[in-house]
Amino acid sequence: MNQFILAPSIIASDFTHLADEITAVESAGADWLHMDIMDGHFVPTITVGPLFVEACKHVTKLPLDVHLMISNPDQYLEAFAKAGANNITVHVETCPDLPQTIQKIKSLGCNAGVTLNPATPASALDLALPLVDLVLVMSVKPGYSGQAFMPEMIGKVEEVRNKLNALRSTAHLEVDGGISKETLPLMYKAGANAFVAGNAVFKHPQGVGAGIRALRELL
Ligand code: DX5
Ligand code: ZN
Repeated sequence: MNQFILAPSIIASDFTHLADEITAVESAGADWLHMDIMDGHFVPTITVGPLFVEACKHVTKLPLDVHLMISNPDQYLEAFAKAGANNITVHVETCPDLPQTIQKIKSLGCNAGVTLNPATPASALDLALPLVDLVLVMSVKPGYSGQAFMPEMIGKVEEVRNKLNALRSTAHLEVDGGISKETLPLMYKAGANAFVAGNAVFKHPQGVGAGIRALRELL
């Protein structure tokens, strides 16, 4: 496992060539495959569900990094775990009892992640931080790939990094939204160690291999 994790977001790929797209990022050196699950309720967009996660599982050995942008995630944790998710990340805004949700994810054999919308303060994570394997900081409003990076989120990453260090936590600190060769170094300096990238990888003019390499060489 690389010290710094690159997690291409499959939502930006060409779904008509899904298996080829996954093979391409895997052979170019991706570490995780990030999957954006949206329900048209918590966020305006509808993407994919457990059946899609299961289909991807059949064509890759990469750990599946599942980001749930759905209302009532508790109801679906088991389905995503069965489908082959390795990391399951929930939004604090959707969990009435966050510690219980985290325990449930772990009891299903998955790494537990928490995330928060740009408008939600880092303090919303405080109860969860000692329990989690991963914290995801959103640097766009969730719902679409290809949005502009929000520089205000650099300070939030620094804040979460300080909180994790104070707890001596080894949890991953992942960032998601508008990550490119310009913005990745800013998040790296702020303390992130895992980087989601949709457009920067799958829409790279020289292909996905070049997209991965362009980010990897910054780390
Ligand atoms: C946004 C998603 C992100 C997004 C990343 O709601 O969670 O994973 O698709 O795509 P880019 O890197 O293009 O912003
Ligand atoms: Zn995501």
